[in-house]
Parts: sequence; C-alpha cells; structure tokens
Amino acid sequence: MKSRCNARNVAIFLSFCFAIVLVASWTKMSDGTWNVPTNDDNPHYRLQISDKMALAECQGKLKQTSKMSAISSAGNGPKELPEILEPLANKELKPPGEASPEEELERIWNYMYQRQYHCTESKYLGGQPSGPFKGDGAYDLCVEKQFWPQGGDKAKCLVYSFGINNDFSFDDEMAKLGCEVHSFDPSMTLADNSVTNTGVIFHKIGISNEDNDSGFNGWKMRTLKTLIKELGHEDRHLDFLKVDTDRGDGTGFEDVVMQELLETGLYKCVRQFSFELHMPGPLTQPRLLNRCRLLYRQMRALNDGGWRLYNTTDNVRWYKAQVNQDYTQRSNKNDIVKGGGAVILWESSFVNFEVTGTCKEVLSR
Ligand SMILES: *[C@@H]1O[C@H](CO)[C@@H](O)[C@H](O)[C@H]1NC(C)=O
Ligand SMILES: *[C@@H]1O[C@H](CO)[C@@H](O)[C@H](O)[C@H]1NC(C)=O
Repeated sequence: MKSRCNARNVAIFLSFCFAIVLVASWTKMSDGTWNVPTNDDNPHYRLQISDKMALAECQGKLKQTSKMSAISSAGNGPKELPEILEPLANKELKPPGEASPEEELERIWNYMYQRQYHCTESKYLGGQPSGPFKGDGAYDLCVEKQFWPQGGDKAKCLVYSFGINNDFSFDDEMAKLGCEVHSFDPSMTLADNSVTNTGVIFHKIGISNEDNDSGFNGWKMRTLKTLIKELGHEDRHLDFLKVDTDRGDGTGFEDVVMQELLETGLYKCVRQFSFELHMPGPLTQPRLLNRCRLLYRQMRALNDGGWRLYNTTDNVRWYKAQVNQDYTQRSNKNDIVKGGGAVILWESSFVNFEVTGTCKEVLSR
C-alpha cells in the first residue's frame, strides 16, 4: 500500500484491454469455458474475449513439468515439496460466471493464509523504520540455502525490484547482501540509470505486458523477458523478484507479471518472488471478480510449477492509521464484495523448489 497516497500510485494505467484479454484467456485456460459476463459495461470486453491464447496448453505443460521433475528428483534423496490444499475443494467451486463473489473471495482468502512451506530462516528487509507505516516497503527473503545459494553460485545474486516510490530501503538491504540490484519505477523523477550509494541501479521503466517506449504517461514500458535480454541477464537466474506496483485503479501489475512468468516459462529461473497482491472491490463487477479468480488460478499454476507460498502478511497499515487502530483485514473482506472502497492488500512470498535453468535455458525450452 506503499502507493495510494503517492506518486507511484499515480496510475501506471496500462491499457485495460490487455488485462481484460488476460483475464478472459485465463478463465478459458483454467476452466475450459469462457466467462462472458452479462453486465460488464466495458464495450471492449466482449470484443477482446474472443482473442485466443493457448493457455490450456500452457497449464498442461506446467503439470507435466511438475511430474517430470518429481520423477527426476526421486533418485536424489528426499525433496520437500509440500502438498497444496485446495481451498473449498470439497465444495467444488462453480464454473466461472456462476461462482458468487463471496465464494471466489473465500477461496483466494483461504489460499493466502495457507502456509505451503515453512521457511526456517527468513529476513524481513527494508521498510519504513517507524511511524504509522512502519514496515511498509519491507519484503521477506528466505535465506535457506536451497533458495538462496549465494555461496555456491558463480555469479552474485540478481534482484529485480518493481515499484519503488522513492523508497529504496529494501533494495539497499539486498545490495548490502552483495546482490546486483535493479530497481524499476517509471513514475519517479530520479534519472534513468542513477546508482544509489549502495550500488542499486535505477531504471525509469515500468513492467508491462508489452514493450513500449512511450506507453501510458509517456513512460518506457517493458516486459520482464525484454528486460532480462536488454540488461544482459539471460545467462543468470533471477534470485529475487519483487513486484509492488499500482495501476491507479486499486489493482496492481502482479497478475500481469505472473501471467508472463507462466506463459514464457520464466518462472523456472526465478528463485524467490515477493509481491503485494492488490484486490479492490466491488467483486460484484465482473472485471474485478475475474481478476480475483485469475490471481488464484495463476498462483495455483505456479504451485504446479514448484512454487510454494511461505508467508502472507496483511497490509492494513493505512487503515490502521486512517480508520482505526483495531482495523484488520477481515474488515476489508466484508467490504470488498459490495465495494465500500476498501482494498485487500496482502504482502506474500513464494519460494521455488524447481528452478531448472538460467533464464535463457528456460526460455528456449
Ligand atoms: C511472515 O513474515 C513476517 C515478517 O517477516 C513475520 O513477522 C511473520 O512471523 C511471518 N509469518 C510466518 C507465518 O512465517
Ligand atoms: C504505446 O502506448 C501508447 C500509450 O498507451 C499507445 O497509444 C500506443 O499504441 C502503444 N504502442 C504500441 C506499439 O503498443
């Protein structure tokens, strides 16, 4: 929520149509039927929904990958890959368009509070040191050797951090650990390629689902895949990917990033992912309800690819400061179905059990 009251928050509004296409395609992929909302007031929605992306295929591949690596690692001793619970499994969630906002919300809510892995040693790095927003801008790093193989790695760790809003506290901490840190935020006035005194390299570029030198607000936008190429990191692993960006409508780009990771296969070269999930209401609005479903599906697909959620914290700092001290996420839960203006903000972290190659290797597969 580092956003809302500041510049980063200022809409990095990337054409909605793309998000809509993504939502539409994912709905298709996951459930085999199109979710065609009946009361969406966006005229583009129906046009874009016919756009096809071979996502079902993508999920098929993910499942296969999971099985294959389970087999290939069988001979190498036990590998802890904890089982995932399916929230509402015994209730069998209805097909898209039929599940109510309450049911969809309940499902992702239960999912976010499952700890799928217990990281025995983590660090909470950066963040505001004091005041009502204490901890805002801090992210979890799991320092277990299997997810943070610093000593063993030939190259030093590589970190991409999206959404800075002039707060480099986390990025600086990662740089102090010896990492090569690249920080991205097109909404800041800091000059492109500036370097902080800890060595963090700043890029005045936004993350997007398309490359555009003059995208929204005239900002330079890039996909993750293009950035990895342009920065010359194809032969590396992405040791830590942080995404905390705001779109200006209460949502963020986390769905866009997870979609790209899944479609390109880049999730296989990312060791850790820490992000803020933004979920505004009203979930009675098909676009937002579909986004809620999409986020859940994406995280499940990442689970199939070997990712495990190991921490979720409620970011209710703003509500505590502005509404009342006793505010909890549950108050937002009641609010976002009908849309009283609240946004659910979860800060969550995944570790990847199945890193299979450098970014170039996983892309060319
Ligand atoms: C999640 O991370 C926060 C910040 O590091 C920590 O306070 C909390 O105990 C963690 N929760 C779990 C379940 O590990
Ligand atoms: C780049 O972004 C601008 C502003 O959103 C848009 O008008 C333009 O069509 C985009 N260009 C491409 C090549 O997508």
